[in-house]
Amino acid sequence: MDKLNRKAIIAGNWKMNKTASEAAVLIDELIPAVKDAGCEVVICTPYTSLVTAVEKTKGTNIHVGAENVHFEDHGAFTGEISASMLTDLGVEYVVIGHSERRQYFAETDQTVNKRTLAALNGGLKVILCVGESLTQREEGVTEELVRMQVKIALQGVTAEQMANLVIAYEPVWAIGTGRTATADQAEEVCAQIRKVVGELYGEAVAKATTVQYGGSMNAKNAEELLSKPDVDGGLIGGASLKAPDFAAIVAAATNG
Ligand code: PGA
Repeated sequence: MDKLNRKAIIAGNWKMNKTASEAAVLIDELIPAVKDAGCEVVICTPYTSLVTAVEKTKGTNIHVGAENVHFEDHGAFTGEISASMLTDLGVEYVVIGHSERRQYFAETDQTVNKRTLAALNGGLKVILCVGESLTQREEGVTEELVRMQVKIALQGVTAEQMANLVIAYEPVWAIGTGRTATADQAEEVCAQIRKVVGELYGEAVAKATTVQYGGSMNAKNAEELLSKPDVDGGLIGGASLKAPDFAAIVAAATNG
């Protein structure tokens, strides 16, 4: 089965949570809890916790990611962080295009594309987020919308670089709301995303690309979501802040 040949990735998106001292405590809990994972485990933390996260996870199976990156390498961009600043710390992943960035910080498909290119060219692995709002779902444009988000974000990304890119399908209406997409809804859009990747890069790349679901995934619903053929992992917000919950999702991915 194709799914078995793809890397399952469970990534925590901590958002604006945890001071560096609090992060240290959570990571100490996570290390033993996920040490036997059969999937890739990533924690994406606020910038202020990255040094702690990289130091603490050295020699473990936990990979560290940031939650955003700027598209320029350096310069007069007050408050921004570049790819080289992240890789220099030992950060491996970065979340790009999260709906909260799009909604509250004026991210567009074009800036998402620029950040994606800068991250990949700078040696980071990208977790690219796409997904429709409730209105868009109700208007019946989910497929078109997600297709457009994926195509614009991937402009200029080479087939080789796709090996370092994960796509996370995150319906905006499911994020932090406790209203999870059904496993069938998640599968439908994840499969559509894979189809778009196939149109752009061919079957082999489409089959090799990890597509995650995100949006109120938790210890209880993870198994069913992750059992779907095109759902290769999860991007986890709220449940990634509690070690036992995150570990349960990692275990579900290991089994699924
Ligand atoms: P949630 O967040 O799991 O809290 O819904 C997911 C995300 O925004 O990545």
